[in-house]
Amino acid sequence: MIHRPRINRWTEARRNLIHNPSIKSSLVQPYFVVDGVNIREEIPGMPNIYRESLENLLDTVKLDYEAGIRAIMLFGVISDDLKDDYANQAMNELSHLHRAVIELKKIFNDDLVIMTDVCLCTATVHGHCGIVVEGEIENDESVEILAKIALSHAKAGADYVCASDMMDGRILSIRKTLEDSGFSSTGILAYSVKYASSFYGPFRNAASSSPKIGDRKSHQMDIRSGYKEAILESKLDQEEGADIIMIKPGLPYLDVVKTVSDAVEKPVAVYNVSGEYAMVMKSAIDLGQRKSMVIEILNSFKRSGADIIVTYHAREALAQGWIE
Ligand code: PBG
Repeated sequence: MIHRPRINRWTEARRNLIHNPSIKSSLVQPYFVVDGVNIREEIPGMPNIYRESLENLLDTVKLDYEAGIRAIMLFGVISDDLKDDYANQAMNELSHLHRAVIELKKIFNDDLVIMTDVCLCTATVHGHCGIVVEGEIENDESVEILAKIALSHAKAGADYVCASDMMDGRILSIRKTLEDSGFSSTGILAYSVKYASSFYGPFRNAASSSPKIGDRKSHQMDIRSGYKEAILESKLDQEEGADIIMIKPGLPYLDVVKTVSDAVEKPVAVYNVSGEYAMVMKSAIDLGQRKSMVIEILNSFKRSGADIIVTYHAREALAQGWIE
């Protein structure tokens, strides 16, 4: 089966994330998990956001949960010596990312929505989101690998696997692979409308996922592209079985969030990316100013039609009680 609308209503936490209209319940906090012991380093340009090893991550998520976070997105950071041409470490069921999902499920069970990023860029030596053959990013071979990574995350217990690669046809391939293996309640969040943006800089540092040569313009969308392509990409992913459609970045593309949310039936998410976060953190002169900016930004996402907001601001906004 390609379409399983029940996936988005499988747990109370999923229903609350998607259907509770409050801003607070729409938030998803991203985390970066590194291999090692007792590591917690702040990411340059991103105050209050860390690269953390497993135990530290568990403590941070527990604190965030107490503050009201009910949905998280995990990125596995892979050390250079474990990278290869085929992103094998990204599907290694013993990796720190997989262990993090397993441990978090043990602690929170279904009270926390766990999303995991599915891409090749953190695990390939060249840092591209696909397999490189003769200097080109090979679509179909990459899609097969993406499906294997997604399946490995589903086995660990992820609620949603989040395809951020922008290869053609990957949602269908992931859906079929999950179905064939009996994972009928695992959701797919599709980064459907993802631009080749200059706002991903701090993230690529944090995830050590910058392309070593070239750029991502052969798969991520042209920043000049109009609404038709955004609608096309969203509808293709929806037809292929995506459970959530995401637009990324957020603030420069609010009009696209509105247009896509009017065009599709599936819930819509927006990713308020690392460069947007860094901009606010650098420009706010004090906590009061930051509070007003964050509240204004989160409201703009809601107004434009986002059901789900992935944002690095979630942690502080909830801990400080900025939003109800
Ligand atoms: C991986 C991925 C990226 C982001 C999320 N998943 C980077 C990229 O596409 O280069 C960016 C998130 C952010 O900037 O906060 N493909």
